[in-house]
Amino acid sequence: MSDYLNQINPKRTNPVIESILQEANMLGTPIIRIDAINFIIQLIKAANIKKVLEIGSAIGYSSIMIATFTDAEVITIEKNEENYKRALKNIRNAKLESKIKLILADANEYNLSEDDQFDLLFIDASKSSYIRFFEKYESHLNEHGIIITDNLLFHGFVESPESIISRNKKQLVRKINNFNEYIVNHPDYDTYIYQIGDGLSLSIRKV
Ligand SMILES: C[S@@+](CC[C@H](N)C(=O)[O-])C[C@H]1O[C@@H](n2cnc3c(N)ncnc32)[C@H](O)[C@@H]1O
Repeated sequence: MSDYLNQINPKRTNPVIESILQEANMLGTPIIRIDAINFIIQLIKAANIKKVLEIGSAIGYSSIMIATFTDAEVITIEKNEENYKRALKNIRNAKLESKIKLILADANEYNLSEDDQFDLLFIDASKSSYIRFFEKYESHLNEHGIIITDNLLFHGFVESPESIISRNKKQLVRKINNFNEYIVNHPDYDTYIYQIGDGLSLSIRKV
């Protein structure tokens, strides 16, 4: 985000959020960028979203931002035990246990109860599994459900794959590109990918 926008936009923060940002910085944990989480917060408010399912909690930053600055409740799934423990501690410090349910599981294998229905699915975990996450969890969306995914530009590499040297990174970028084509062409969703954060998609279920 530009310095100007950073300065003029409202600051959504508090001491717990500041300490999570420092923790993520110290550990090198990737978390959502400030413009992207604020876009999601605005969308949750505008669309009156009440239930969010997040895939990929990391240390709890995005779920705590959502639960602090909106009325929505969040269920969030994290497979890394170290991250899970840190997220649990941060959720407790933020006193948000009643609004955030944190689950330690691999989202590829976890099964939600059939009754669990969400207004928003936010996918922010292993990029190579994005199509699988989309297909596995979209059945838990309400009729007017929305799906958001992050990192679809992957630091600009998706737009300029010729600059990549590593084979693994090339493969990952190919998978992200496949996902991008998959969502924009999905017959059941109306999708647009934005230059927000690291590339954010917004898919709205067609009714
Ligand atoms: C980019 S970070 C999430 C950042 C977080 N949403 C935020 O903005 O604060 C991705 C997280 O997804 C987790 N993850 C990756 N694959 C996963 C899977 N299959 N199931 C659950 N979590 C997964 C990783 O361990 C990592 O903590």
